[in-house]
Amino acid sequence: MTKDYTWWKDATIYQIWPASYKDSNGDGFGDLQGIISKLDYVKDLGTDVIWLSPMYDSPQDDMGYDISNYQDIYPKYGTMKDMDQLIEGCHSRGIKLILDLVINHTSSEHEWFKESRSSLDNPKRDWYIWKKPKYDADGNRKPPNNWCSYFSGSAWEWDEKTQEYYLRLFAPTQPDLNWENEECRNAIYDTALKFWFEKGIDGFRIDTAGLYSKDQRFLDAPIVVPGNEFQPSYKYSSNGPRIHEFHKEMFSKVTSHYDAMTVGEVGDCSREDALKYVSAKEKEMSMIFLFDIVMLGTTEGDKYNFVGYDLKQFKDAVKNQADFIKGTDAWSTVFIENHDQARSPSRFGNAKTIKSSFKSSKLIALLQATLTGTLFIYQGQEIGMNNLPRSWDIKEYKDIESINAYNEFVAKHNITDKNDPKLIKFMDAVDTVARDHARSPVQWDSTEHGGFTTGDPWMRVNDNYPEINVESQINDANSVLSFYKRALKMRKNHKDLFIYGQFEILDYDNEKVFTYVKEIDGTKAYIVLNFSDETIKFEPLEKNLKLLEANVDNVTENLTPWEGRVYLVE
Ligand code: GLC
Ligand code: CA
Repeated sequence: MTKDYTWWKDATIYQIWPASYKDSNGDGFGDLQGIISKLDYVKDLGTDVIWLSPMYDSPQDDMGYDISNYQDIYPKYGTMKDMDQLIEGCHSRGIKLILDLVINHTSSEHEWFKESRSSLDNPKRDWYIWKKPKYDADGNRKPPNNWCSYFSGSAWEWDEKTQEYYLRLFAPTQPDLNWENEECRNAIYDTALKFWFEKGIDGFRIDTAGLYSKDQRFLDAPIVVPGNEFQPSYKYSSNGPRIHEFHKEMFSKVTSHYDAMTVGEVGDCSREDALKYVSAKEKEMSMIFLFDIVMLGTTEGDKYNFVGYDLKQFKDAVKNQADFIKGTDAWSTVFIENHDQARSPSRFGNAKTIKSSFKSSKLIALLQATLTGTLFIYQGQEIGMNNLPRSWDIKEYKDIESINAYNEFVAKHNITDKNDPKLIKFMDAVDTVARDHARSPVQWDSTEHGGFTTGDPWMRVNDNYPEINVESQINDANSVLSFYKRALKMRKNHKDLFIYGQFEILDYDNEKVFTYVKEIDGTKAYIVLNFSDETIKFEPLEKNLKLLEANVDNVTENLTPWEGRVYLVE
């Protein structure tokens, strides 16, 4: 890794999920004007870049990841004029703005798909992936192969009119684009990328960036979830045969013409594949998100079969995300929350009480602020927001992923009783990893609905808004919010060490404490994090430690539960 201080390497990025950030007009939905009203707050936090999740026009079957027009704004969020104002509002404060680039699929309401599905010989027929049905021995119509959707069931959708199936790895209304078709690729580049670069945005978070190239044989996927008719298609749809060719083309034709950053959501891939995406000499993307940490404890292909994890696995995951760029010209990311993940104190800390939740949020802030790569913070993380309460019924959940998984589970196991132990175990998993934990409205103050809206919120606000909200933290030097600001400053003040330094774990076998060093050009930091509810004797593995930051007022010879410290080694 090169210590070159490129803006997007040094940056701290703040992700905004527009539906839940701030409602400016009382209709219950967050909107662009709401975001604009909070830009000073975002700046004050110490962030340099905003990543705005999809604000494009969309039927919202997958919260805007189903785009019907790349060049328009979802009316509930505002207008193009508001968007121009947001770009200007960011830039005038020295904040850069990146958008979400969702180009593996469109909405079925996109004009391209409407044309594509209109007839077998429409010129855009080949812009999506259409296949003839299969028939079983009894003559029943079946999808072309056994691939499952990320949102349960088959990945193929039957089209009555033209009597073929189309591929949709996500919702039925999210048809996958056919990247094999060059005309289609060029249309994507023009409408989804160039249009926005010309408006002045500074880059993209690239949605499902590893999925564009499907193995054209469309073979059945291997069985990884026994008992299910449909199986994860990774082998044939992730990091596929032409994926790097497509990224190189997108970079050379479009992105390279701007001073832009790109961060691809790639999730699971080998170190070798990861480097192909982000090695500087490959000219594909600036960096990618890997999922080692956020997927901990889940089962491959079956997220809601949650089996848990231990601290060693957590350390391995951190190491995998940090280490794959060692000795290369590649770059990496640091994140623990986003719109698809649970809240970090609930998921990786202890959110049983507000006190332990706040303390573990601060511990996580120290972890995040000291790891190598570009740092991403998700809205609400900076105040220590929690997962939704376990007492909430599944009816409060809005996300197509959890709802479909729930319905599929209930049907598969013939569950009729809410107290069925199998269902309770499933709901425990929902409680731990559902995407909606991140999607409830931001808690701004202690007034009704947490000050998010004066109307009826589109999604229920977490019940703990009186205890966890921005207003109560902003002037409190001991709050999670103040601590995040401090931790982010510390990261910047010692950026060689924390943003660029080499990472090494010192106590791999310790099941309760995570100790590591960061090192660069002869300077060294020593980080010790107690990831447990126990008080543990502090036994430093290095000498001459000078305390830089801690989430307690006074450090003693004991590490209290969820205590974290950062030292410089002198
Ligand atoms: C990505 C997004 C997720 C979305 C999916 C389909 O994983 O992060 O929210 O549902 O892609 O676009
Ligand atoms: Ca609104």
